[in-house]
Amino acid sequence: LLKAQKGGYAVGAFNAENMEMVKAIIQAAEELKAPVMIQTTPSTIKYGTLETYQAIVAAEAAKASVPVCLHLDHGSYEACYKCIDAGFSSVMFDGSRLSYEENIEISSRVSKIAHQMGAHVEFELGSVGGLEAEDGTVDEIKYTDPMVAAEFLERTDCDFLAVSIGTVHGTYKSEPNLNLSLLREIRNKVSCPLVLHGGSGLSNEDFRNTISGGISKINVYTDIVHAGTDCLRTSKCQVYADILLQAESAMCRAAMDKMMVFGSQGCA
Ligand code: 13P
Repeated sequence: LLKAQKGGYAVGAFNAENMEMVKAIIQAAEELKAPVMIQTTPSTIKYGTLETYQAIVAAEAAKASVPVCLHLDHGSYEACYKCIDAGFSSVMFDGSRLSYEENIEISSRVSKIAHQMGAHVEFELGSVGGLEAEDGTVDEIKYTDPMVAAEFLERTDCDFLAVSIGTVHGTYKSEPNLNLSLLREIRNKVSCPLVLHGGSGLSNEDFRNTISGGISKINVYTDIVHAGTDCLRTSKCQVYADILLQAESAMCRAAMDKMMVFGSQGCA
């Protein structure tokens, strides 16, 4: 990410839920010689189990010539601990629903463990919004406060910071409206790589503007999984493995499209 920050491009961080998604994303990175991050969430780990999921990513990453990181996205303290212990490259503790002080308290505990074990950490300041809590409520956008960003980073020893500048997770209900001047303000206050969540549904111009505004990691899930599910729904094929392969190719193309806009092509 530091290399991306210097080079003025962003690394694609794609949420992958199963073997086909992992293969699609690594294949896309291989085709374009792009560095890539595979991300997983606690719900995917629950569905696939940590050991199985990690084994799939490790087997595919070992064959790749490009750098492949394995990152935990939106983890609890416990999930972060388990993934650090299992050897993930990095973890995100999501304290966006906590108070500022609680977020700092748990984030800094995660940081200490991660850094001792050689992993990196991502934390969120503000709330990107669009994620559903266990009780079914959907998070609202809470914009990142640039005035506390430097203090937050210092107190949590954060390696890369997720910012809330108007993106949301999942499908946009109206035109995305990004606050680029807020992004610039945050960028002026802190020097670490910044992370954009909710990368699906944004225009190429949005990506170019946010990357030139300081974003070095872009999270994408919905657009990739939709490419796969659209293919599964419309396939005329009758053979299970062949239908999955078609979906895998569609997801690979969707991931390549993003990587090309992010400028990470040829940067591995
Ligand atoms: P999208 O599903 O909107 O692409 O968001 C992905 C994300 O930010 C995961 O953290």
